[in-house]
Amino acid sequence: MNKDIELVLFSEEKLHSVVQELGRQITADYQGRNLLLLSILKGSVVFMTDLMRQIDLPCELDFMAVSSYGNGVKASGTVRILKDLDRDIRGYDVLIVEDILDSGMTLNYLMDLLYARNPNSIRICTLFDKPERRKVDIYPDYKGLEVPDEFIVGYGLDYAEKYRNLPYVGVLKREVYENKE
Ligand code: IMP
Ligand code: MG
Repeated sequence: MNKDIELVLFSEEKLHSVVQELGRQITADYQGRNLLLLSILKGSVVFMTDLMRQIDLPCELDFMAVSSYGNGVKASGTVRILKDLDRDIRGYDVLIVEDILDSGMTLNYLMDLLYARNPNSIRICTLFDKPERRKVDIYPDYKGLEVPDEFIVGYGLDYAEKYRNLPYVGVLKREVYENKE
């Protein structure tokens, strides 16, 4: 797998310290709140499992799965819900945990959908942010690292469902894409 990586952008140690700092901020901000961590499957699972252990507060955990855009972004920005939450979010302070904020279309749609269910609050925590790629007005409340407009994999992030298990984050070699197309 490592042979497919052009460049390691963030080491395991770097990711650990970034996640630790996010956990510290969230712990400070959510004192006395009813925190529900909402992981968007599947990309955010590695981040989520590390982040939750850096949050020193009572909190709960839930998951949603949404369709990816497949071949290109749908003009409507509509996202298909593949797995919904298990609970009513009224009374919860929902913190959406995402791997990467790219066009922002997925979270924009999800935020509208979740707001309609009347939680106490909703915020976004993303490990990576590609601000240059944004197509809608959406800003993360917590963000780990800004990344350039390159396709990255590892630490939960995939290319064609592979590479999620890399402990670091890297840029894929071009030939990996080119061979597949
Ligand atoms: P958005 O709706 O365009 O913001 O889509 C965000 C989703 O696209 C993320 O949750 C990822 O699943 C995927 N994505 C965007 N950029 C990358 C990348 O560089 N590597 C892997 N997945 C990515
Ligand atoms: Mg994702």
